[in-house]
Amino acid sequence: MSKQQWADTEVWGAIAQERERQRDELELIASENYASMAVMAATGSVLTNKYAEGLPRKRYYGGCQHVDVIENIARKRARDLFMPPDFDIGVNVQPHSGAQANAAVFLALLNGGHPTEDGHTGDAILGLDLSNGGHLTHGSSVNSSGRLYHGAHYRLRDDGYIDMNHVREMARSHKPKLLICGASAYPRIIDFAAFREIADEVGAYLLADIAHIAGLVVSGHHPNPFPHCHVVTTTTHKTLRGPRGGLIMGQRNLMKKLNSAVFPGTQGGPLMHVIAAKAIAFGEAQQPSFHTYCGQVISNAKAMAQTLMEEGLSLVSGGTDNHLMLIDLSDSDVSGKDGEIALGKAGITVNKNTVPNERRSPFVTSGIRVGTPAITTRGMKEEECRWIARKIAQVLRTPKDEALLQTICDEVHDLCGNFPIYPEL
Ligand SMILES: Cc1ncc(COP(=O)(O)O)c(C=O)c1O
Repeated sequence: MSKQQWADTEVWGAIAQERERQRDELELIASENYASMAVMAATGSVLTNKYAEGLPRKRYYGGCQHVDVIENIARKRARDLFMPPDFDIGVNVQPHSGAQANAAVFLALLNGGHPTEDGHTGDAILGLDLSNGGHLTHGSSVNSSGRLYHGAHYRLRDDGYIDMNHVREMARSHKPKLLICGASAYPRIIDFAAFREIADEVGAYLLADIAHIAGLVVSGHHPNPFPHCHVVTTTTHKTLRGPRGGLIMGQRNLMKKLNSAVFPGTQGGPLMHVIAAKAIAFGEAQQPSFHTYCGQVISNAKAMAQTLMEEGLSLVSGGTDNHLMLIDLSDSDVSGKDGEIALGKAGITVNKNTVPNERRSPFVTSGIRVGTPAITTRGMKEEECRWIARKIAQVLRTPKDEALLQTICDEVHDLCGNFPIYPEL
């Protein structure tokens, strides 16, 4: 490659700045993590040049002998990671993202139809309400899942937990063809067996979208959705710590439909460089060190949650069982948006989030979502998490105190300096 090709200073300059931001600031966005050097190297490899529509040994392009090996390794490792004893599952590693994985599952299992004046012509899906921690792809009206299908939603109980009696009532009244469990902002354990009972009662397929908790599932820190669920989707870049991407796993008898819903149903050529990176990440997740990492993610989240509450902040459901927590600012003059901006100035990156019974707009919100996967990857433990929680509380008490924000920002830089992410960073 000639020097000239590296001379795009506009883009490489911004990449260098982003590298510094990641190095110097605290990343508490619950859906983000730091992939390994090996994972990043695979995404930047020659595999980005290769077309490979189809599945291994059944491709629509020549020259696929090496990418076939890679995709088969990825499939085998994913199966070994997620498959419980005595239960056979099929795997598709090609979805470009979590949203793509969900779209393919809907295409495979549901009949779509446009909303009409008389109602909805598409099959019904029932998932957790977006403002209660669900995801856009679980039937929200602004997403294809809510435009092609009839999206119905269950909500959290006032104590912040999923209420299975309410889920059952909603299932009985909406008769969904697909029941979805899984969330983007739910800090508690999901009872897959209880969801399956309800799915069976109304004759629905059960989909678990474990995009957030996949790492905790494969390391045994959260119950496995199999054998309870018919289909499981996930992203590969959150607690699983791989490249950005999606994954579908399902009962064997559904795999033919699921595979063809990915290609040619919703995607063209698979991203073989990302599939290689997924294979590497799955290999990393099979190591004992990944089990230790996920245990630490949860211990860190619990330490942070405890300290936030000791500092007088309220958390949805009163704590956490997993990698994230939701600070509830419903009773505060400081909104989620104010908090996100002030914490950003202090070098702490979080995202505003709606909370149950939200009274502010989705652009403002009354919540802040905080997660520990990324800071745990860089080696932080309970002590650092308690320190960070005290700083968050200080910022949320006085978000307009610019001098304080600057002081905390300097302290955050010092802390981050002791926990490098990548060798050269
Ligand atoms: C539960 C859940 N499902 C699906 C997705 C979508 O994943 P992606 O951003 O890779 O499309 C997310 C992402 O935040 C998520 O939290």
